[in-house]
Amino acid sequence: MASIPDLDGSYTLLGESRGPVEGQTLEVISPVDGSVVGRVHEFTPEEIETALTAAAEQQPVWAEQPLDARARILARAADVLESRADELAELLVMEVAKARKDSRDEVLRSADFIRFTAEEGKRIVGDAQFSDAFPRQSRNKLSISYRAPLGVVLAIPPYNYPINLAVSKIVPALVAGNAIVVKPPTQGSLAGTKLVDAFREAGVPPAVVQAITGRGSRIGDLLVLHPRVDMVSFTGSTETGQSLAKKAAMIPLQLELGGKDAAIVLSDADLEATADDIVSGAFAYSGQRCTAVKRVLAVGDVADELVALLAERIGTLTVGDPRDDVAITPLVDAASAQGAVQMTEAAVAKGARLVLGGTREGNLVAPTLLDHVTPDMDIAWVEPFAPVLPIIRVANAAEAVRLANQSEYGLQAAIFSRDVDVAMHVALALDVGTVQINGKTARGPDHFPFIGTKSSGMGTQGVRYSIEAMTRVKGMVFNMRPLDLETVS
Ligand code: NAP
Ligand code: G3H
Repeated sequence: MASIPDLDGSYTLLGESRGPVEGQTLEVISPVDGSVVGRVHEFTPEEIETALTAAAEQQPVWAEQPLDARARILARAADVLESRADELAELLVMEVAKARKDSRDEVLRSADFIRFTAEEGKRIVGDAQFSDAFPRQSRNKLSISYRAPLGVVLAIPPYNYPINLAVSKIVPALVAGNAIVVKPPTQGSLAGTKLVDAFREAGVPPAVVQAITGRGSRIGDLLVLHPRVDMVSFTGSTETGQSLAKKAAMIPLQLELGGKDAAIVLSDADLEATADDIVSGAFAYSGQRCTAVKRVLAVGDVADELVALLAERIGTLTVGDPRDDVAITPLVDAASAQGAVQMTEAAVAKGARLVLGGTREGNLVAPTLLDHVTPDMDIAWVEPFAPVLPIIRVANAAEAVRLANQSEYGLQAAIFSRDVDVAMHVALALDVGTVQINGKTARGPDHFPFIGTKSSGMGTQGVRYSIEAMTRVKGMVFNMRPLDLETVS
């Protein structure tokens, strides 16, 4: 794969192709086998200036195009993406070690997202109100408001969905008339660059959709603090998101950050179905999902049976190379794998019972189930972003809710119970963006609202919600003078 010519650090600036620049390229190393998947260009401060200036200048031209024309161009991008599904999926397999089928699904889900959003963009309508709804006003003013683009949106997606979480920022921004500049995650920047190419090929002008590659730690501040950036849509770790939020003053932010989603299992739950959901919720993409089930809070009288059912299922998960379409693949880097194993060992040292796993070979962490985890263990609170599932035994629903809400995170939670009343009460008491009732935690379908409370984020994602987040209300008021139509000829 390293020999593919356009993965050699060549890049485009405003549509002009440029060759690799010595000393300005970044190697993307595969977590699968340590090979160099390819190289990307590290944008210089001068190039960033050029790119953002052009984006700001060309954005009004893009916004002037009829909305239907913009939507058609975007729909074409979905076709281009689909036609490249295999090529892009291969890149994801090697860049982020996502299993081949899941990688392909990510590309196809993104194409669906583009089409849906292009259509939805046409249905974002404004509002009209007369003045006399307010006390002591007469009917002499009419306010008309609509949604105007913000200008240049900066999109920063994470490595775990380099295509899908880029598309979920690019398309709402573009359909609403913004220009968009994407800073792809370094791990995923080859796929991210090719994604941006697809939008250009479909007809989005080169200044209006751009990829600016380089390490976040080196170029992040230049982008976030740039005066031409009118909004930042970031998905990634809470640490990076919080530091970015302190810098980006006076511009809107959409932050989708970390999570420690709890699955609460009550004594009347359908345990077989619950175990299926928990295992796929916790171990899909080896636990590297913000929405993964990251702890189970099970009431004591069903905990033994639940743990046995979970162990049975986890024991059948295939482990290995993402090219073989296995369930558990190598983590993105060795530090993550080492951190997960250390956290497991620390829990065992404090009295947790290791039911399965707890080992690693390089970046590959064996699917791990820990029982009898207690609140004094890090694994009860920290997000490992790895295939490690802790079980915390609780006395009742109240204790489960207390422990769930004690987390610094508030992305999602799941409640498993056959009693709808109980499930509703628990759902209302949970301080998270979304509660899944009798289902695993997950973001999609992508038109649903996706929200994080506390350290899990700010603002709402999801097709319509993202379009709204990337626009502002623009108002006009007609001031009507009193008029007698009898006098008008
Ligand atoms: P990350 O390290 O925070 O990186 C996310 C993105 O930020 C990458 O593109 C990264 O670029 C960039 N970045 C790094 N430092 C930056 C800086 N100083 N300024 C601007 N950008 C910077 O997170 P990650 O490891 O990719 O993703 C894992 C985390 O994301 C987990 O905590 C997970 O829960 C969270 N996540 C949340 C959601 C959600 O929707 N709530 C979705 C997915 C992931 P480089 O790659 O070049 O460093
Ligand atoms: O990693 C965070 C993603 O937003 C999770 O999306 O629930 O579709 O895997 P997902």
